[in-house]
Amino acid sequence: MVLFKKTDRLIASLQEARNEGKTIGFAPTMGALHAGHISLVEASKKQNDLSVVSIFVNPAQFNDKTDFEKYPVTIEKDIEWLLKADCDLLFWPAVEEVYPTGYEQSPHYELGYLETILEGKYRPGHFQGVCKVMHRLINIVQPTNLYMGQKDYQQCMVVDRLLTLMQSSTVLHTCPILREPDGLAMSSRNTRLSAKERERATGISRALNYIKQNIKPGNFDDLIATATNMLIGQEFKVDYVAIADAQTLELMKAWNGQQKIVVLIAAFQHEVRLIDNMLLN
Ligand code: PAJ
Repeated sequence: MVLFKKTDRLIASLQEARNEGKTIGFAPTMGALHAGHISLVEASKKQNDLSVVSIFVNPAQFNDKTDFEKYPVTIEKDIEWLLKADCDLLFWPAVEEVYPTGYEQSPHYELGYLETILEGKYRPGHFQGVCKVMHRLINIVQPTNLYMGQKDYQQCMVVDRLLTLMQSSTVLHTCPILREPDGLAMSSRNTRLSAKERERATGISRALNYIKQNIKPGNFDDLIATATNMLIGQEFKVDYVAIADAQTLELMKAWNGQQKIVVLIAAFQHEVRLIDNMLLN
């Protein structure tokens, strides 16, 4: 694996590979890697000649300063994981390499409805920050294929929209959520949970499974209320438990039994905000 810290060096190396007709797969991350991240590298390795991973804790996407300051950094362990996964190129830039003219000024991305709901509503500015960094990273790497996790369901839809806005030919692949044996979705933020909080955190996947097992055509207010109470019982402060159209993310109050739907949860286990989701049919 070759490590690049400088943008121009990475661009030159990837240009050489493209000139040789090689396909490039790309998995962007913020580091503190876990098996979920590595599954993206594995998917990329199967479909591309070269696989690139980026590790960059993007200041532009944190609406909460403490969350940014406390974001775990484990670069040595990350490099070990990536070596084991046989990743070809690692891009680990400083902020100035990604944003040479700063990240305050940049275009506004037209995300429409997507930015007004769920993560867009509870984390104002977050998706503009995600677009800012993804726009830059996609322009640097120019990947044939881009690998992202269903864990961040709405983020995948936002990036899909960004690729359209950029008129990019990069193909987005949404990869399945990897979970711990007890059901907790893997996340870099899980390392911030105390032992007690870690135990209670399984409440999220239990609430998702409860909804999946009990969803019936018709109104589902009661189901959402029960799932919310399950979370409150585990000391969660709930941002949302929502069911939405799986393709458009339009929020729903009732189900016709046919439409493809997804349930999404965001909740704080004390200081740590966790998100998860599950396709229901
Ligand atoms: P990060 O949270 O590090 O996640 C990087 C990628 O790993 C994302 O596509 C995310 O959906 C995926 N991922 C996270 N947990 C996963 C799991 N349990 N199973 C499968 N995939 C998982 O998401 C970001 O970083 C940033 O917003 C980024 C896209 C890098 C832009 O800064």
